[in-house]
Amino acid sequence: MQSQRMPLVAGNWKMNGDVELAEKMQQTFGATSIENVDILICPPFPYLSSLSSDSFAKGAQNLSQFAKGAHTGEVSATMLAEVGCQYVLIGHSERRQDNGESDDVVALKVQAALENKIIPVLCVGETEAIRESGDFLKCIAAQLDKVIALVGITQFAHMVVAYEPVWAIGTGKTASPEQAQEVHKFIRQHLAGLNSEVAQGLRILYGGSVKAANAKELFSQPDIDGGLIGGASLDPQEFLNICLAAKS
Ligand code: PGA
Repeated sequence: MQSQRMPLVAGNWKMNGDVELAEKMQQTFGATSIENVDILICPPFPYLSSLSSDSFAKGAQNLSQFAKGAHTGEVSATMLAEVGCQYVLIGHSERRQDNGESDDVVALKVQAALENKIIPVLCVGETEAIRESGDFLKCIAAQLDKVIALVGITQFAHMVVAYEPVWAIGTGKTASPEQAQEVHKFIRQHLAGLNSEVAQGLRILYGGSVKAANAKELFSQPDIDGGLIGGASLDPQEFLNICLAAKS
């Protein structure tokens, strides 16, 4: 059966880019029409206001779990909504590692985004050591379960999940299409055990060293609904080619 899920390709600039890159993205994407693929760009906070295009949505790379107040350096969901963010990455492995974000904090951030009608892109993934131990599916389940416990399974109808094996991020070591599909299928089945309709509608993105050369094979797997792209999203033409690879 053909999947009814619209592919989504998201670019995560991380702490890269500038106003010039924002302008180039607008030009490159403004000149090509890509139908039947949702496109998202997540620049650093200062460039959110510089990015505006009918060709792609914009999103943030993080948000605070708090609504407002004395939280120096933090940005709230209402602020993101006000500058036109439709999505927000939550629980990226770099934030889990560099900023000590626990599964509990990640769940609170998902809740804050949902309350403000911003679509959370919940990132999950195992480290190399966990992959080698063989326990990687358990690790993914635990990351999902904290969020399910707080917001409830039906909220996944308003979410996106990104599977990003930590060992494949920025390393050039992409998971093979079969390795990625195994985990994507597991995620869908895990959620289907609670609500099969929500699980069937959920978009699950793959992230980790995706480039134009390997995107098509990854995106053609039955449970892979697009990608979360780091390094390759900084080159407008390469990112455009990855978006084109998501067209069925
Ligand atoms: P990468 O990063 O494409 O550079 O591996 C992916 C990500 O961290 O989202």
